[in-house]
Amino acid sequence: MVYKTLQERLEEVISGESNFVANAANFVSLIFYVLKDINWIGFYLVDGDELVIGPFQGKPACSRIPLGKGVCGTSAKDRKVIIVNDVHSYPGYITCDPLTKSELVIPIIFHNYVFGVLDINSPIYNRFNDFDIRNIEALLSTLIQLSDLESLKKYYKNNERPFLD
Ligand code: SME
Repeated sequence: MVYKTLQERLEEVISGESNFVANAANFVSLIFYVLKDINWIGFYLVDGDELVIGPFQGKPACSRIPLGKGVCGTSAKDRKVIIVNDVHSYPGYITCDPLTKSELVIPIIFHNYVFGVLDINSPIYNRFNDFDIRNIEALLSTLIQLSDLESLKKYYKNNERPFLD
């Protein structure tokens, strides 16, 4: 039910606005205040061979993550969803908040470009499952459909590589 409410609220809040940063800011705020047991949620967006932090809710976090590093950099590079049930057992985990126990990272892919990832942290172990992935992917798909991602490309130093298959 919580995801149905989130989907409806998201459509209300972002329809009528196409700016990706504005919509992404409302997106993370909605999820942060509605989902239980979340201590951080935010976007990391591709900038050359790094990810740079975008709209988020929670404590200040690391600004840049090299592609291929940590959970976020690995998700972006390999284009795969990653659930970490216990962050202490993930090799190369990048700690931003010592309270975080589990994490979900979903890559954002548009027209075959990886634009970045959505990163969600929880203060409890084993917080995320396939149901969360399906529903959060659906929310991301609404965000992408209603936002102008093309306009974001101009902010990237190197947007033509290496994210095109
Ligand atoms: N833990 C992430 C870094 C980002 S923060 O958790 C907000 C990682 O390993 O990529």
